[in-house]
Amino acid sequence: MRKSFCTTAILLAFGFVSSCGVAWSADAPLENSDCVKCHAKVVHENQADGGKHKTEVGCLDCHVGGHPPSTPKEDIIPQCSMCHSGEAHFELNNCLGCHQNPHQPLHIVFGDDNVAACNTCHPAQVNEIKDNPSAHGEFDCSLCHHDKHGYIPDCMECHEPHRPGQTYSDCITCHRVHQPTNVTYGQDIPNKDCGACHGDLMDTLAAGTTKHATLQCVYCHKDTHGYLPACQDCHGDPHPQLMMKKFMKCTDCHKDPHDLVK
Ligand code: HEC
Ligand code: HEC
Ligand code: HEC
Ligand code: HEC
Ligand code: HEC
Ligand code: HEC
Ligand code: HEC
Ligand code: HEC
Ligand code: HEC
Ligand code: HEC
Ligand code: HEC
Ligand code: HEC
Repeated sequence: MRKSFCTTAILLAFGFVSSCGVAWSADAPLENSDCVKCHAKVVHENQADGGKHKTEVGCLDCHVGGHPPSTPKEDIIPQCSMCHSGEAHFELNNCLGCHQNPHQPLHIVFGDDNVAACNTCHPAQVNEIKDNPSAHGEFDCSLCHHDKHGYIPDCMECHEPHRPGQTYSDCITCHRVHQPTNVTYGQDIPNKDCGACHGDLMDTLAAGTTKHATLQCVYCHKDTHGYLPACQDCHGDPHPQLMMKKFMKCTDCHKDPHDLVK
């Protein structure tokens, strides 16, 4: 039975007979080294990039229990859960949707509905994007991370910079991509990056003749976009109380922090 299947199959499918008798002798069950004779493509894929499905397991650890035609094909295709269980990631559906080739398990291709799957390993990023509603949270992770695990996009794949010459590393000094509307920054923002949108103020400040002209925007507008400092935060109460009683605001005499009159 086996022998006749084999001869027929090999003749039809592969056009050679010599290895057949060896592989399919009833006394000599199949071994891992036999598979290449008839499944060369699979074996070569596995050799080239099988990862732990090459080093930790062999063909027959997965394809157990026989071989067609004596055993139906579907009975020798393993469930992933045979060996992978006990983690959230292993409760997902459609393992082969991403791990498209079980013989090269780290060749991963994402579909277009991945949030739950990414969440099994990156809950911090999934929570960050959910907890801070923005346009980015409307998309699947794969809009930006494409279908290749670990891919980091450049903002300019989808956006124009605020000023010419701005690069990705500038963008992320102000924006955190998974919560893009919460603009926060350190002390390393050059005035021209604020001036991209507040050009008039940048020019006014730079044209000044007082010591304010030498300061960075973010020295005064610390940390969070839109933060307004008070003069007293830095200067305390420089004038006698009596004098100040007559004036409501520092700017009544000093005009404007960006166009300071001394
Ligand atoms: C002599 C040739 C030959 C050898 C050696 C051989 N196979 Fe096969 N194998 C076949 C043929 C032909 C089929 C297709 C049977 C069918 O379609 O009914 C098949 C089918 C299979 C299938 C099912 C494929 C499907 O489409 O679902 C698996 C899995 C499989 N072989 C694994 C192995 C493994 C593992 C080895 C080595 C241990 C091996 N085979 C050795 C010829 C061979
Ligand atoms: C980690 C488990 C695992 C290992 C190891 C493994 N396979 Fe498979 N193999 C599978 C699964 C799962 C499928 C079904 C894939 C599908 O449904 O798309 C499969 C499908 C196949 C098929 C039929 C589909 C095809 O791609 O032609 C053949 C033939 C096959 N394997 C041969 C082999 C051979 C030969 C080896 C050893 C080099 C091997 N397998 C190692 C899990 C494994
Ligand atoms: C016969 C047992 C067995 C089966 C069935 C099996 N695996 Fe594995 N797999 C292993 C072992 C053992 C490792 C290495 C240890 C580990 O990472 O858990 C492994 C590792 C992996 C890896 C990491 C590979 C690497 O090189 O780091 C992936 C991804 C993977 N398996 C996916 C799958 C998927 C998807 C399926 C179902 C199509 C599957 N496995 C079926 C045994 C199996
Ligand atoms: C949405 C895509 C996706 C789906 C669906 C998916 N995986 Fe994964 N899997 C990944 C990614 C991405 C990795 C990380 C690979 C890396 O570390 O480079 C991974 C890693 C693994 C690993 C190795 C790391 C580990 O945690 O041991 C195994 C094993 C694994 N997956 C098995 C499975 C099984 C089993 C299923 C189905 C129950 C499955 N995967 C479903 C994308 C997916
Ligand atoms: C099975 C676990 C697993 C799954 C599922 C998984 N990842 Fe990862 N991912 C990892 C590991 C492990 C790393 C490398 C270590 C790290 O940076 O945390 C990583 C790294 C990354 C990186 C950073 C690469 C870099 O260069 O810093 C990105 C981006 C990423 N994953 C995106 C995703 C996206 C998007 C998904 C869902 C489509 C996903 N991952 C699914 C385990 C996984
Ligand atoms: C609008 C595009 C975009 C979307 C949508 C997006 N990411 Fe990212 N992701 C990025 C960029 C850009 C980086 C690099 C951030 C950096 O360098 O600071 C990144 C970094 C990562 C990293 C690496 C670790 C880190 O935080 O830097 C992981 C993991 C990750 N993203 C997972 C996800 C997951 C999961 C989703 C879906 C819930 C997702 N991302 C949605 C653009 C995006
Ligand atoms: C794959 C495309 C893509 C990438 C990559 C991407 N974005 Fe977006 N982003 C969008 C889309 C689409 C919108 C919504 C429409 C719009 O405002 O242009 C958006 C909106 C935004 C918004 C406004 C959010 C809101 O809710 O109003 C900011 C800020 C933003 N992106 C910053 C960034 C930054 C910074 C990066 C890089 C770290 C980046 N984006 C990478 C596609 C992308
Ligand atoms: C100096 C800080 C800063 C830098 C650097 C920065 N942004 Fe922004 N960005 C902002 C602020 C503040 C807003 C919100 C303006 C508002 O409230 O309308 C914004 C808004 C956006 C928006 C929403 C649409 C719009 O134009 O108002 C996108 C998209 C965006 N930035 C992308 C980028 C990209 C891409 C880069 C890098 C080339 C970048 N940003 C660099 C501060 C910055
Ligand atoms: C992408 C354009 C953009 C960039 C870049 C930008 N801003 Fe703004 N900024 C705006 C817009 C639009 C408003 C007015 C709407 C609002 O109140 O959010 C504003 C408002 C402000 C306000 C006033 C808030 C209030 O309550 O009156 C301050 C202060 C400010 N920005 C400082 C800065 C500083 C400092 C930088 C550089 C770190 C900067 N901005 C970068 C667009 C931008
Ligand atoms: C974040 C801190 C900060 C804030 C807020 C601030 N200043 Fe100043 N100011 C400075 C610094 C620093 C100097 C330079 C001091 C020096 O070098 O001796 C300065 C100098 C001055 C001077 C002297 C200018 C000169 O050329 O000698 C005046 C007047 C002044 N500030 C008024 C104001 C007024 C009015 C406000 C509010 C509208 C204000 N400042 C807000 C930090 C600040
Ligand atoms: C010396 C501290 C200081 C510096 C430097 C500074 N600002 Fe201001 N800024 C202030 C103060 C104080 C106010 C609030 C004025 C008020 O309440 O009348 C203000 C108000 C603003 C406002 C809102 C009101 C308006 O005038 O439109 C914007 C926008 C702004 N600053 C942007 C900038 C930008 C952009 C830079 C850099 C080019 C900058 N500031 C540099 C102290 C400063
Ligand atoms: C009635 C007008 C007036 C008001 C109101 C006023 N100042 Fe002045 N301020 C002056 C004059 C005039 C000088 C210059 C005095 C000098 O050079 O000795 C001055 C000097 C300063 C200096 C520089 C001191 C130095 O040692 O160089 C600072 C800082 C200052 N003012 C901050 C403030 C702040 C903060 C407020 C609001 C609490 C304020 N001023 C309100 C008139 C005023």
